[in-house]
Amino acid sequence: MAHDESSSETALEQLIRLRVSRRDAMKAALAAVASAMPNVSVPASSNSNAAQPSSLTFAEIQHGLDGTHHLPAGYTAQVLVRFGDPLFGATPAFAPGKADAQAQERQFGADNDFLAFMPLPSAGDVDQRGLLCANHERSTAALMWRNMASQRAQADRSAAQCAHEMSAQGMSIVEVRQRHGRWELVRNSAYNRRITARTTRMTVGGPAAGHPRMRTRDDPSGRQVIGTLNNCAGGVTPWGTILTCEENIHFYFLGDPAQHPEAAALRRYGFGGRLFYAWGRHVDRFHLQKEANEPNRFGWVVEVDPYDPKSVPVKRTALGRFKHEGATTAISHDGRVVVYLGDDERFEYLYKFVSEGRYDAMNRVANRDLLERGTLYVARFEAERMHWLPLVHGEGPLTAANGFRSQADVVIEARRAADLVGATSMDRPEDVEPHPHTGNVYVVLTNNHRRDAHRLNSANPRPDNRWGQILEIVPPRVNGAVDHTAFECGWEFFLLAGDPEDARQSARYAGPVSRNGWLACPDNIAFDREGRIWIATDGQTEAAGFADSLYAADTNGPGRGITRLFFNAPRGAEVCGPCFSPDGRTLFIAVQHPAAERGSTFETPSTRWPDFDAERPPRSAVIAVTRADGGEIGR
Ligand code: FEO
Ligand code: CA
Ligand code: CA
Repeated sequence: MAHDESSSETALEQLIRLRVSRRDAMKAALAAVASAMPNVSVPASSNSNAAQPSSLTFAEIQHGLDGTHHLPAGYTAQVLVRFGDPLFGATPAFAPGKADAQAQERQFGADNDFLAFMPLPSAGDVDQRGLLCANHERSTAALMWRNMASQRAQADRSAAQCAHEMSAQGMSIVEVRQRHGRWELVRNSAYNRRITARTTRMTVGGPAAGHPRMRTRDDPSGRQVIGTLNNCAGGVTPWGTILTCEENIHFYFLGDPAQHPEAAALRRYGFGGRLFYAWGRHVDRFHLQKEANEPNRFGWVVEVDPYDPKSVPVKRTALGRFKHEGATTAISHDGRVVVYLGDDERFEYLYKFVSEGRYDAMNRVANRDLLERGTLYVARFEAERMHWLPLVHGEGPLTAANGFRSQADVVIEARRAADLVGATSMDRPEDVEPHPHTGNVYVVLTNNHRRDAHRLNSANPRPDNRWGQILEIVPPRVNGAVDHTAFECGWEFFLLAGDPEDARQSARYAGPVSRNGWLACPDNIAFDREGRIWIATDGQTEAAGFADSLYAADTNGPGRGITRLFFNAPRGAEVCGPCFSPDGRTLFIAVQHPAAERGSTFETPSTRWPDFDAERPPRSAVIAVTRADGGEIGR
């Protein structure tokens, strides 16, 4: 049972009760919102861009929807790397529509999502240098292959096509460098690496390692898995590893979940709905009736050391199994490591992991297994405070009587464990990320149109929520340092997304957001060097009619929470992975699945971004955004 405050209050009444912020600058704004609420009039919000208080200097662009991307005047985008681009010396060039898994193992993967820039030392004429680490979340059959217009054709994909798709997911790690202001790939770098669903061997760590529910015919040890898939968002640890997150695992497994020995557990994870992949036609382990335990080996956070191309990725099962969006890390006041985690599905939960051991800044190797042991918590929100509830075998309801025989059962069925302890059901938790200066934790909830008036709660107060909201958790301080391990924290809304001029949406911003500054469906976020928040969206076209976009806002001062529109993606694309270079002068953006919309196919896509070449399909790509004058982005 999810925790939901059964409520006779209307959503609007609840909103009045809620604090948007305790900061003085926000109190005035909240007063304006609250006074506007009873007659549901429009908050002061329709000012022009120039009237907004903000530290951001760019000239806001306009909401729109067309076949290409848009940036403010004075900014340019360079296409750095696209799906299918070779990452190694002797690698075949991208061949549109051709199934060739061997080639794909050496090319940039599909549908780039999370991005991290891991610095390397630079010298000579190189301005800066690093490893660009990109997740490859998915692939869109209709845009990847010819003659895929029908669902029947997609279900009948060939063995070669399925193998290619398995090689297109996972991660790419590729050295990039900037010379005289221009970015380039270093194709022969010894760091370059592909991690794929088809071939990359990884180990299983944490409480589920070796458990009978993790064993398969190919792996009787339950400790060795081939591949990672649906790699959505992620995070960077303080010791320089990448956490890549397995999200929608239920899209991959053919067969009948109702006939499976763990039918109830599969149902709780959404198996049995629409499949996006046909891998199980050709690969036994992706068929529920041929390899029962393979689903338990996905849905984890995987730790990868990008600086060691020979390193073996580890599935960190202590962090729980669910549809992981991202995994961002903070060092707490006492040196323990805390990882914030969202489970991106309607009515699912927000989690954090607290390590048993402490971070050692002087000894990288000593941190290698910090994510092996610790405690997983799930969030419960109340009107004023929020609580972190431990998911520990033997505590509370997490006992054999409820089917949890060990901590392995708890992490494999983290969702059911969270149900039993009374977690708060959320409106699709996407990125969850601590602010680099304040330590406050931003929780991005993208939308939930299935939430009805009977299932509202204080953190998810709108029925038919098509616009999403961002919360800010305020952990306590211990001698001035942030205690990320705390069991209880304060919280407030950073913003409730939507159009502030449409009263039916109950959107709330902390100040006057412009006609182009409002947003819907926040998903991935990043913070720049000044601590401003950059918010990427996924779903704006459906919710609001314009392209997915990237917005920026201050997190402090009079411009706090007043979002401004910086970037529009080409139609059909979502905006992923915003990531700054260490000098703040380059913003990397992952433009994911351009032209992925109804009726758009390989032969007749709705855009051919980024090449606009009649011989090439649209392709996901990472762009590097810089300022013509070389200055910091957004300043
Ligand atoms: Fe893969 Fe929740 O976005
Ligand atoms: Ca996402
Ligand atoms: Ca997304």
